[in-house]
Parts: sequence; C-alpha cells; structure tokens
Amino acid sequence: MYNIIDRLFLEHDISDSDISSLLMDKIDTIYLFSKADEVRKLYYGNDVYIRGLIEISSFCKNNCFYCGIRAGNMNAERYRLSSEEIIQCCIKGYDMGIRTFVLQGGEDPAFTDEIICRLVSDIKRIIPDCAVTLSLGEKSYESYLSFRKAGADRYLLRHETADDLHYHKLHPDTMNPANRKKCLFNLKKIGFQTGAGFMVGSPYQTVEHIISDIRFLQKLRPEMIGIGPFIHCRNTPFENYDNGSTELCLRLIAILRLFFPDALIPATTALGTASPDGRERGLKAGANVVMPNLSPVNVRKKYILYDDKICTGEESAECLDCLKRRIESAGYTFSFSRGDHNNIKRE
Ligand code: 5AD
Ligand code: FES
Repeated sequence: MYNIIDRLFLEHDISDSDISSLLMDKIDTIYLFSKADEVRKLYYGNDVYIRGLIEISSFCKNNCFYCGIRAGNMNAERYRLSSEEIIQCCIKGYDMGIRTFVLQGGEDPAFTDEIICRLVSDIKRIIPDCAVTLSLGEKSYESYLSFRKAGADRYLLRHETADDLHYHKLHPDTMNPANRKKCLFNLKKIGFQTGAGFMVGSPYQTVEHIISDIRFLQKLRPEMIGIGPFIHCRNTPFENYDNGSTELCLRLIAILRLFFPDALIPATTALGTASPDGRERGLKAGANVVMPNLSPVNVRKKYILYDDKICTGEESAECLDCLKRRIESAGYTFSFSRGDHNNIKRE
C-alpha cells in the first residue's frame, strides 16, 4: 500500500486498479493524509484561502434529483437577491478582509446575461482588488465569454459525475452530460480559472465512476476541484437514499491532492455538515480553501441543497470567525489573499 501512495506522491498518477485499492482497501489513511499534506505544503505552504460565498438565487429551472432547490420542489422557498443586495454583501465581506467573492445560484432565467455582466463589472469597479467567481450553471459559450469580458475571473461548475449512465441516474432527460462537459472545456478555453467536481457517495456511484471522475479531471485540468459527500434532502427523489461517507470523501481529497498537486481544493460546507469537524479534517487531508457564507441571514434557510446544512443561522462575521478558529486550530494559516491558482499571472 505504501508503494502505491509513494508512487502517486512522486508521479502524480497511478493505474485504475491502484486507485481502487486506495479507495477500497483498509489503507493507512494517516500515511495517505500526511503525504497529501506534504504536497499541499510544497505548493501552497500553510495557507488556507477564504472565499466569501453569496447565494444569489434559489430559483432554478433544473430538476437534479439530489438537489433541494430543484424546480419540482414545491416546498422550497424561493428568493432572489437584487444586484444592490449582492454588492452590499461584497462590500461587507471586503470590510472583513475577504478578497474573493463567489456568486452562486440556481439556473435562474431572471438573472439574464446582461444583469450578470453589469453586476460583475460593478463589483470589479467598486472593489478592483477582488476576484469574482461565478457559479451559475450551464450557459452558452457566448454567455461565458461575456461574463469573462465583464471581469469575472473564475467559474465553478461541478461535472457531478463523469460517467454518462450515472449522470442520467442523477438528472432528468432534459439535462445531458455532454453539454456539461462541453461547458467546462469552454470555460477553460475562455480563460476562466475553472472549477469542476462531484459528490462522493451519490446514489448509484461505484468505484469505477470515481475512477472516471479522476480521469476526466486529468483531461480537463481544472484549477479548482470541489467535492463533498452526498447528503439527502427532503422533498427530492433521493430523500430516502443513504448519505455519502465522510471517510471516503476525506480519502478522495487526499488522492486528488496527490493527483493534482497545485489544485485549489475546498473543505466544503457539505463536508462540515456530514461531520462536525469535517472541514478541519478536510484541510488535514489536503484541502486548502474554505468558503464562509456571506449571504444575508434572512435568505440562508432558503438556499437548502441538502438537509441540516450548517451556517444557515450565522451572520457573515460569525461564520468568518468560526472558520478562522477552525483553520487555526487545525494548524493552518488563514489567508485573505485572492488565492489565485499558481498558473495565473496577474496583470
Ligand atoms: N448533497 C451534497 N451536495 C449537493 N449538491 C447539490 N445537492 C447536493 C446534495 N444533496 C452539490 C452539487 C452542486 C453543488 C453546488 O452542491 O454538487 O454542484
Ligand atoms: Fe459558518 Fe462555522 S463556518 S458558522
């Protein structure tokens, strides 16, 4: 087992059967995590980067089977922030020291390209030294290009699963895996720092699917990779399915760190929801990003992708303080820098 981990550490690649051994066997996770932490330190030192998350809309035209804000969930409470409210969240975050804002939302047709572009350019004009990340789902090449021209720096779009048959088990027929992948390659081509990723332990997921996810990521070469355990959500088709395993997710974070040494990998909210110290353990397994919630408190309980989501009652400053304590208690340095991927040379 040690030689598989050592080979992955040295060569950043191993065979499919070696990946399945790392995922399935009783491996020495302490050794795996220590090698992942070592690689992370080599590339990014002790820093953990802070991204302020603003959940801009809980309206979504899609119907992903796992997600709480799917269009078909008649019990979901819907809200949409105005551009002014979003800018106020950014300013508040900026005053607390945050330099990266992630605008995330469902695929909400009311957020037209024009509105998004104006919003991005307003944020960049008011706060020139920040990075703006969008996470607004699948759009055309032209739309992505217009967002980039308006000043957006990064885009997060999890591929969810790289296996086409598995994709169809998680999504209705109106969505297709080819388009999702196409979107990701378009984002890279346009020059976004691009984030992909998937849920760990989503219904019907097998080890082979996870291997396909890693192989897909090798082709895409995203700057950011987000993974978190699947957590069931009431009033969705998967409400009675088992949650993904925290342990498997942690092990995968470490494996991804060894495959993709310079990737920005968050310790996600889902990981913190699945286990009270999930994010701290994520950092120790090789993650180097956290995303405090900057959404206005009165909308937080409406952006529910899965049950028992954490950080839904806290003020922005409380969430940031809480994360700061967690990062420092895990032995890392809280970094307010923009935290660009190291392949980006800033003008
Ligand atoms: N459990 C865990 N993660 C989820 N996501 C959506 N629904 C769930 C769920 N039930 C993830 C998806 C999406 C991201 C914003 O949140 O991977 O891309
Ligand atoms: Fe949000 Fe702890 S990180 S409250």
